[in-house]
Amino acid sequence: MNQHNMKQAAATAAIELIPPQSIVGVGTGSTVTYFIEALATIKPHIEGAVSSSHASTKHLQALGIPVLELNDVAELPIYVDGADEINHDLQMIKGGGGALTREKIIAAAAKEFVCIADQSKYVSKLGQFPLPIEVIPMARSYVAREIVKLGGDPVYRSGFTTDNGHLILDIHNLNITQAIELEQRINHISGVVTCGLFAQRPADHLLLATDTKVKQLKAAQKV
Ligand code: A5P
Repeated sequence: MNQHNMKQAAATAAIELIPPQSIVGVGTGSTVTYFIEALATIKPHIEGAVSSSHASTKHLQALGIPVLELNDVAELPIYVDGADEINHDLQMIKGGGGALTREKIIAAAAKEFVCIADQSKYVSKLGQFPLPIEVIPMARSYVAREIVKLGGDPVYRSGFTTDNGHLILDIHNLNITQAIELEQRINHISGVVTCGLFAQRPADHLLLATDTKVKQLKAAQKV
């Protein structure tokens, strides 16, 4: 299987985990694109979706899946999303597509977080992928200086604005040994909306596509 086939296999496997007549939290990215296509095949069996980005909303609506506001939903049984990196504790780096803040809100609200990924995303240590941080525009330089104090090299994602009207700094060369502490520390810098570390609220399940099959993993259950 090539990487696209693996993404599709992980995404399709997630359909089995969706409770009947539920509202489904939907992430963002190329793996989720396959998930949305698979979700359309069970349209009559779900009530609708809560979306983490304008791009996913557009795709869901184009396939006739009702998109609901999170504020109007009392219970979100499941959230399905990809990751840029995921470790053996199912902590993740997300935000390569810039949708990290809405993704983090939906992850927090959801009962179960299912991560769908191909095997290239599964790492023993987070940080090879630059950590995205969503930042209020006027705080960009200040936040960048604070990040340098933490040992990271911030790179401004030029020409990119998030769905919330903010900017992204991609942080290279961070030594991520204590992911929960680092997530809290970065989130406490004034001007940071949120960082793309998903450690305080990791995934509950990982559907990891390998060359031969899709494995369903829980935290610390190594391949
Ligand atoms: C979007 O902001 C991200 O968090 C994505 O979930 C992540 O970048 C994975 O994307 P791909 O499935 O495209 O690799």
